[in-house]
Parts: sequence; C-alpha cells; structure tokens
Amino acid sequence: MASDYSIGFTGSTLDEIMPWIDDQVGDTSKVVVAMAGSGKDIAHLARYGRTIVSFDTQEISRCVVDGMFRAAPAPKSPPLTLGTLEGYATSTEGLGDMPADAAGAADYIAVAGDDYDRVCLFYALVRCSLMGRGQVWGRDKTVVDLERLYRRAHERLQAWRSLPGTFEHHKGSVFDADPSVFDDAVLFVDTPKVVQGNRDIYSSGYVRLNSIIAQAPVELPRWSEDTFWRDMPHLWNAPYDRMVLFHVTGARPEPRAVFDRMLEDGVPRPSTIGSWKHKGRTDVAWVVDRS
Ligand SMILES: C[S@@+](CC[C@H](N)C(=O)[O-])C[C@H]1O[C@@H](n2cnc3c(N)ncnc32)[C@H](O)[C@@H]1O
Repeated sequence: MASDYSIGFTGSTLDEIMPWIDDQVGDTSKVVVAMAGSGKDIAHLARYGRTIVSFDTQEISRCVVDGMFRAAPAPKSPPLTLGTLEGYATSTEGLGDMPADAAGAADYIAVAGDDYDRVCLFYALVRCSLMGRGQVWGRDKTVVDLERLYRRAHERLQAWRSLPGTFEHHKGSVFDADPSVFDDAVLFVDTPKVVQGNRDIYSSGYVRLNSIIAQAPVELPRWSEDTFWRDMPHLWNAPYDRMVLFHVTGARPEPRAVFDRMLEDGVPRPSTIGSWKHKGRTDVAWVVDRS
C-alpha cells in the first residue's frame, strides 16, 4: 500500500527498505515518528493495536494525519464543487506567478474544505507547480488542471483514510516534546538533509504551499548542519526503547561524523546498521537499543 502513497513530496525513505523497517519496528505497540513529512512512513507503519505519535512543523503533515489517516470511516466524502474566494493565495502571491482564478479556487478549497480537502489541494498545487517544486506556478497549468488534480487526489487518497491503529499528531518541533513521549517507544527519525547550499529543502521550498493550505503565513524552522548538531542529541539521548535513525552520505554532516558523535555522547553502539545504495549515495540507518 505504502508504495502507491504520495502527495507530491515523498521524503527520503526508500520503498524497497520498508520490509527491513518492518523487521526493526517489529510488533511494538508505540512508534514515535519524529518528523512526519508526507506521512509515507506513518502510512506504512499503521497497524491495529499500534499508536503512532508524530511531529512535524509543516501544516500538511497535520492535515495528512488528522484529516486522512484519522478520518472517520465511510461514507466517502464527495469532492467540493469549486467556487472562488478571497483568501491567502489571492491576497499574496500564492505560489509565484499563480493566475488569479487558480488562486481563488485554491483559497476556496482551503477555506470551504476540511483537512482531507486541504491534503488534496496540496497534492494538486505541487503538480501544478513548476517542476513539481511547489514554489512557482507551472507555465502550462490552469485552474482546470488544479480542479482535475484536486478531484483525482480526492478519489485516490480515499485508500489512506481511516487507517488502522491510533494516531496522535503534534504540529510543531519534536525538540519541544516532553521526553516522556518516547517512553517504551520505537523512535523513527528521518531528518531533513542538507545536500546543496547550507539548508534543507523543506523550510525554504514548502512555505508557500503550507501557507496556502493554512490560509496564513507559515514559518518553517530552517534546518542546517548547525541545527543537526544542536538539536539531534535531544533525540538520540531520549528515553526510547529503540531508535531507528536514517541518514545519507553526501549530506552534511556526513554519516561517519554523526556516528562518532553519537558514541561520544554515550549512545549505545547500534545493534544493527542498514545501508543501501541509492542514486550514487548510500542511505544509512542505525538501530540503537536502550536495554
Ligand atoms: C526527510 S523529511 C521526512 C519525510 C518522511 N520520512 C516521509 O515519510 O515523508 C523531514 C521532515 O522533517 C520536518 N522537520 C524539520 N524540522 C523539524 C522539527 N524541529 N520537528 C519536527 N519536524 C521537523 C520537515 O518539515 C520535513 O517534513
């Protein structure tokens, strides 16, 4: 199921390693997903009898968990009949170079719809944006494409409504979490990666999309190498039972330096290390057990 799930940005977790992830998470009843992103990992890890506690600073992650994974079961909700409204996209530049009618339709969905509609709007906006980057409107796209893509998302994402298990999402920084949230949990961490320049793609690239679906200017905390060194010890020193931490070569800091720092910090030596070649880089995962 998870391999078909996409709302436009997928995070770095590879579909091929999902069986390995299942082995590491086992039959635990509590998983903490520190950085939810698109929710792809959450969708994969959802099970009857399992609680998934998640965090992310993006509005889209909240809409995905609260409006889709936790949505009440059938009856299936119909898509909105599009109208137009003045709102965040119409009164700002929305996505850069966005036509007025598309901005009005986006504001209509964001205001008149529920969180599920906002997920579908996000999906449609990503696909209407230049090169799918979510920042500037694609030159060949029109309000007709926006409506078609919104309706398509509305139909295909129904499969991820009302997933089994219990979901508890926190919109905000995982570094502000009460440490007790990690008790008895498998902690799953997939951080933003700094590969070009000195910051991640999420905080710079997804501000406009998140602001349109939230109908208010959104600020996303910038993630840099300094952020990593400053904040990540809060997670790897947290009182989890097991942590599965993903990283990748060619990102700053490099995995070797992260590994050394964790050991210096007194984090137990990983019981398992996964590594997978991927587009010229190597994805790495460390599995750390407290007991
Ligand atoms: C690599 S993505 C995670 C992708 C995820 N594995 C998926 O399935 O889509 C990293 C995420 O970290 C989030 N993030 C950045 N800083 C954060 C923080 N302080 N607390 C929680 N989430 C944060 C970003 O918004 C982004 O969604």
